[in-house]
Formats: sequence, C-alpha cells, structure tokens
Amino acid sequence: MLKVAVLVSGGGTNLQAIIDGVEDGTIHNAHIELVISNKKDAYALERAKNSDIPATCISPRDYKTIEEFGEVLLKCLQEKSIDLIVLAGYLVILPKQIIQAYPNQIINIHPSLIPAFCGDGYYGLNVHQAVLERGVKVTGATVHFVDEGTDTGPILLQRAVKVYDGDTPEILQKRVMEEAEWILLPEAIEQIALGNVDCFHKMGEDVRSLR
Ligand code: GRF
Repeated sequence: MLKVAVLVSGGGTNLQAIIDGVEDGTIHNAHIELVISNKKDAYALERAKNSDIPATCISPRDYKTIEEFGEVLLKCLQEKSIDLIVLAGYLVILPKQIIQAYPNQIINIHPSLIPAFCGDGYYGLNVHQAVLERGVKVTGATVHFVDEGTDTGPILLQRAVKVYDGDTPEILQKRVMEEAEWILLPEAIEQIALGNVDCFHKMGEDVRSLR
C-alpha cells in the first residue's frame, strides 16, 4: 500500500479529488496518511479532517531558516514512512533536503501544458491570465515529478482543455480543474501505486519490494 502525503495551501479541490478517488476505488493501492499545509486556515485541512485524515500545519514563517523548516517537514514525513509526496496547490518552494530525500517520489499538478506557462510567477490564476493574454486555443494541466527547479521535473501525465471566447481566468481555471486536474492527479497516483511509472522505479529497494 503506497503511503501518500498531500501538501496543500488553499481550497483543496485537488486533495478532494484524491480523497474521492480512494473512496470510490479509482485509486486502489494507495492511502492518504497525512495532509500538510503551510496555512493553518487552508480549507484543504478541513477537507482532510472531514475524511478523518491526519492534518497539520507546518509553516516556514514559524522557523528562522528554510533549512529548519525543511528538517521539521522531513521528520514529519519520515515518521509516517511516506512513499509519495503529492503537491496539490502547495505554494511553498520545497526545501532542498526534502527533494534530495525523496528523488522521483514527489509529484506536482500544474495548471498548464508544461513547458508552456510555467516556471517562476506562474501559479493559480496568473497561469490562466497569461493563457488568455497570449490567445492560445488549448491549455490544460500537467502532473510532473518535482526536481530542484520550478516545474522542470519529468512530465508524467497531461490533459488538454479548450479555451473559449469570453473565458475569464476564473472560468478557465474552473474548466481546467474539472476537465484536467481532478482527473490527472488521481490517475497519476493510481499509476504510481500500480508500479506503472518508470521514474518511480528509481526509488530504494525497500519500496519496490512492496509491489
Ligand atoms: C490548482 O489550480 C492547481 O493547479 C494549482 O493550485 C490550485 C490548487 O487548487 N497548483 P486546490 O487548492 O486544489 O483547490
């Protein structure tokens, strides 16, 4: 059983899609062990509690250095023997020690078709604003592995979404969530849990032996 930690910062609709996927069987061999937010008032924490999933706030603001924050976060993940970290709208740059401790074991959902509209400054509504300003006719979402860059890790899954005349950033964000993000993230976790993802195989022997 793949032990999953979901890191969140906001409303948690992607977290909810994962919770629902586990409950309806879309996601078979994975279990959400923990939800961590950097914001104590993130509604995503409420969603976790409503599903009896342990949830906590670990904020970089509460620590003198990013390294200290990283150590606390790492300890929390290791105590739960987490196999896969899912960034679901997590707006904090992960400390290096987390990325180094979990090579090819961290995935992120980005609301565009990487390599378009990604990198520094492209998050949340900013992405959809830029899509509309550029006038592209197709956008979408991407699940990718997290490395030490911003949205630069290996791409795992993508799904295209049409842009319509009259779309606002809010309308487009909702369509990308409904037609892409909430489908891709559970699918990515399921594929990893089934052992169908090569990148994931670079992990240590101990996890591979689970399958
Ligand atoms: C989503 O649009 C996701 O693509 C981006 O942040 C947003 C998170 O939304 N990374 P939610 O908190 O999952 O509702």
